Amino acid sequence: MEDADEIPTIVLAPMAGGPSTVALAAAVCEAGGLGFLASGYLGAAKMAAQVEEMRAVTARPFGVNVFLVRETEVDEGALAAYLASIQPDAQVLGVEVGAARFDDDDFDAKLDVLLASPVAVVSFTFGCPEASQMRALHDVGTRVWVTVTSVAEARIAVDAGADAVIAQGASAGGHRASFFDDGGDGALDTDELVTALTKEVDVPVIAAGGIADATDVSRLRELGARAVQVGTAFLLADEAGTNAVHRAAVASRGETGWTRAFSGRTARGIVNDFMREHPDAPIAYPQVHHATAPLRAAARAAGDPGRTNLWAGTRHEFARAMPARAIVQLLLRSSLAAE
Ligand SMILES: Cc1cc2nc3c(=O)[nH]c(=O)nc-3n(C[C@H](O)[C@H](O)[C@H](O)COP(=O)(O)O)c2cc1C
Repeated sequence: MEDADEIPTIVLAPMAGGPSTVALAAAVCEAGGLGFLASGYLGAAKMAAQVEEMRAVTARPFGVNVFLVRETEVDEGALAAYLASIQPDAQVLGVEVGAARFDDDDFDAKLDVLLASPVAVVSFTFGCPEASQMRALHDVGTRVWVTVTSVAEARIAVDAGADAVIAQGASAGGHRASFFDDGGDGALDTDELVTALTKEVDVPVIAAGGIADATDVSRLRELGARAVQVGTAFLLADEAGTNAVHRAAVASRGETGWTRAFSGRTARGIVNDFMREHPDAPIAYPQVHHATAPLRAAARAAGDPGRTNLWAGTRHEFARAMPARAIVQLLLRSSLAAE
């Protein structure tokens, strides 16, 4: 991918926490899309191993997504109260609440791996890397994409040297990618954000959020998106690592909503009891993520959809259980016909 013009129309969203697998990313690459590995919650060594596995199974370009987590001030009183409020859930599940610690998801070590062993694209989420970090990636031939949720964030990304921005609209499943605040109120949805960004920045805009079929792909391309990054539509793919509880929820009807209850950072998931019972989680990421990890793992093991995160976008009921190649083909169907 020497040239930004070569961005394939379908980009597989990185989906940390289980759904992303080497097999899924490779299948999307082989189907003509751009597969992404999700390094979130993996240490640098595991990420490096997945990069090597990818190279063994596909010769096509692929991307790696990295979380850029900065330590921000946490209301310790609110965090302590929240940890106490989830204690009864832990008791029901027979586990202890985890230690609410900060970590930066191994950022520096991951960057070192990606500089030593370059991939076609590195995308960032939750923040914008320094211009010098982008230059270092450019120097090894890597394109840098930054996920944004507003025009202001896109300007920062482009000023720092981003080759493309991923425009994450409000309907997107999983965490909001916002740089500075928690990113809930006033969020633009995908169509509005793409329209605004294509006017404001002169790098390719990749649309993300609520993209379920070829009509969505065509519409967003008409609005100016160069490509689309699709997550939820791949959650039921044969090659996805989505756990059984999550798969069943995605496949059934159910409203989605924003919550901080599981991680301390706003994310969209299918509404369940834990989200309903804990609407007051403070902004404290990844402290709350670590605190709820044992509860979520126990709930998954018990087949309990009420106490684990069920990240999904608003259009999850359109996700299909089939090989990833077929999902790529369905997403392309009418946009190819229109060309
Ligand atoms: C289960 C799940 C996990 C996600 N994990 C990540 C991630 O690790 N990194 C990232 O940049 N975005 C992540 N996202 C957000 C996607 O990149 C993308 O914005 C979103 O999936 C687009 O909306 P859609 O789910 O409606 O297609 C995740 C989304 C889901 C559904």
